Amino acid sequence: MSPPGASPPVALTGIKPTGSPTLGNWLGAIRPAVELTRDHRALYFIADYHALTTIHDGDALRELTYEITATWIALGLDPFESLLYRQSDVPEVFEVTWILSCFAPKGLLNRAHAYKAALDANSAAGRTTDDGVSMGLFNYPVLMAADIVAFDADVVPVGLDQKQHIEIARDLVDAVNLAYGPVLKPPAPLIREEAETIPGTDGRKMSKSYGNTLPVFAPANEMRKRIMRIVTDSRRPEDPKDPETDTLFRIYRAVAPEADVAILRDRYLEGGIGYGDVKKDLAARIEESLDEPRGVYERLMADRGELDRILAGGADRAREIAGDVLDRLRAAVGTGERLGSERRAGVGR
Ligand code: TRP
Repeated sequence: MSPPGASPPVALTGIKPTGSPTLGNWLGAIRPAVELTRDHRALYFIADYHALTTIHDGDALRELTYEITATWIALGLDPFESLLYRQSDVPEVFEVTWILSCFAPKGLLNRAHAYKAALDANSAAGRTTDDGVSMGLFNYPVLMAADIVAFDADVVPVGLDQKQHIEIARDLVDAVNLAYGPVLKPPAPLIREEAETIPGTDGRKMSKSYGNTLPVFAPANEMRKRIMRIVTDSRRPEDPKDPETDTLFRIYRAVAPEADVAILRDRYLEGGIGYGDVKKDLAARIEESLDEPRGVYERLMADRGELDRILAGGADRAREIAGDVLDRLRAAVGTGERLGSERRAGVGR
């Protein structure tokens, strides 16, 4: 919470466009990020150049970028109040990436989880160490650090799996600031509780790779079908049930108001409800909360020109912020003024 009159802290996060958004993405990431915009200046972007480490199909990447943009707006992000932009539209970020890479110890990046996982998979499969490992994958954490520091972000809301990346970003900030004084702002992670992880229809973590997802904007009847197929145990309506281990209950808890959750919990414990009825109730609630967003989503997806304009507007504002930081950095490292750029306040602190 910021004192009155002070500008609110900057919350920044990147969304990798790797698949159609699921209910898990909404409840676990999008909804909390939208809530954060109430007391933060929010900068949210589509990390398309991070996705390029895995998606090598131009049409698919372009389409996913539109999908993510439309999804976030449909689910409540106001792209005029907050900033919503496409990473690749902000060239300043990539210049910052190079500068940071000159302060990134290779040994540090050797220890990055995603890179190490690729090496482990190779050795397990009897392949050569770096088989299929691109420099993009290796440098992924440096680009991510640039995403963050180029906007003087205060907090970075992410899942636990991204914690190491934020630590690397902080290490790079320290290295730069050690050389030049306080040029860059060290970001703090804002880690989402794992307890909020939404299970998929088979009870495992909801994940595209398990094929157990509930896609947010699936047609209503498809959503209902998938909900009716959620796996439960074979307890009858009159049997007492454990709400904590039941997939249905865990999803219900994330979508229903607290008072209704308390009622359902009691009925589970007492044995007063069957899974079939819970499924119907859950499907109705999800349908009700997604009906209007689905309309917005479909309208936006039918108007790419509108999405282009929104992204272009976001990029304009983003470039101004990143340009200021880049001016500061260039002044510090000695590469001089950017041609055509006006030196702004704060240079050479
Ligand atoms: N690596 C993040 C992910 O996989 C996406 C991301 C890219 C990001 N740049 C970022 C997140 C900057 C936070 C801040 O989800």
